[in-house]
Amino acid sequence: MNFDALTISPQVTRRNHRIESALNRVVRFVDRATGLIGFGRKAAYDDHGYEFIGGPSDKMRTRHYDKSLRLLWKAETHAPWSDFKDCNKEELALIELAEGALDSAEREHVERMRSAEFKELLNREYTPEQKQAIVNILSLIGHGEAYAWLVSAELLNEVKSTGARSALTMQVLEEAKHFVVLRQLIQAFDMPVPRMCAYEYVLLERTFKSKGMEKFFGMNVVVEGFALSLFGMMSHLPGLELLRLFHLDESRHTALPMSYFAEFPMSKWRRYSPTAQLRRLSLVLPALPILTWIENDLAVLGIDAFEFGGSLARKVFFLADRAGFKLVLTQPQLHRLVGWLFNQYCRLTRPGHERRDWLKSDTTRGIEERKVEVEVFAA
Ligand SMILES: [Fe+2]
Ligand SMILES: [Fe+2]
Repeated sequence: MNFDALTISPQVTRRNHRIESALNRVVRFVDRATGLIGFGRKAAYDDHGYEFIGGPSDKMRTRHYDKSLRLLWKAETHAPWSDFKDCNKEELALIELAEGALDSAEREHVERMRSAEFKELLNREYTPEQKQAIVNILSLIGHGEAYAWLVSAELLNEVKSTGARSALTMQVLEEAKHFVVLRQLIQAFDMPVPRMCAYEYVLLERTFKSKGMEKFFGMNVVVEGFALSLFGMMSHLPGLELLRLFHLDESRHTALPMSYFAEFPMSKWRRYSPTAQLRRLSLVLPALPILTWIENDLAVLGIDAFEFGGSLARKVFFLADRAGFKLVLTQPQLHRLVGWLFNQYCRLTRPGHERRDWLKSDTTRGIEERKVEVEVFAA
């Protein structure tokens, strides 16, 4: 390549570099020194190594970032009734090919029809009571998605390594998509959307306020374990097939802490500290009454809240144990405690109730979702 190179005096260049070099030493020294008392450089980034602190973590990058990108789904393809326009030209061409060539007026008509058609389908398939029940249940996780977005965005700045940051970046992207798409799905039911219940409010706020990697426990273990169980239970229902894709995303998110701790293990103190263990248990147990908040809505759909709760608790405890988050009690003790609490509640509120082993139930219905969960929960 031919450039008309300009001439700069070599002395000027050398002097500029010397000045910069001296300033650089001062700046870095001040940051290193103030870093010892908690100030200093904020970015966990090593510009000398052109890498984030923690190294490349390529394994985590391939397992989460690459896989997420491969499985990234577009709302425009899977929820054509929504107003999302997130497909690129090639994807749109594929849709068009499948539908035959449409001119823009026809396309607009089809889009209007689609949204009306979708609402019609919901009205045909569900009574108003059932629609309200679905909205009440789904909005529970809809609010959770808002917090998942907030928490993952914060965690993105707390994890070490390039691979972990790219994994968390994908989670932020997916949580944003979950929040906005689920919101439209819920709104299509044309039913009032309830606020968060107090138990959920406390769980999500405490998760958001958790320090450092403890956010992984509140978010990727408890909240996403909840989301995974809920999506797996509802995705076979007419009009809710989209939840299948949410389920797949959440299954990856629940695996994130384990992948991360495999490369950057939690210290023994963090894992076993009595205060940390108590804090985790005190996050889970007060969240259990969420089941009483949706008991009636689940019943409208023919689901026993405690079958769902048992299935959920077993999965959450498994995920916690696998990631190394200890919870004061052993797994069998936790199973016995939660089963006992469920049975006590049922004894008080359900005449003739007979003791059941709730934690043996599984409320995931879809065949594909079951396969995904077999992989996730393979001991
Ligand atoms: Fe999500
Ligand atoms: Fe998630």
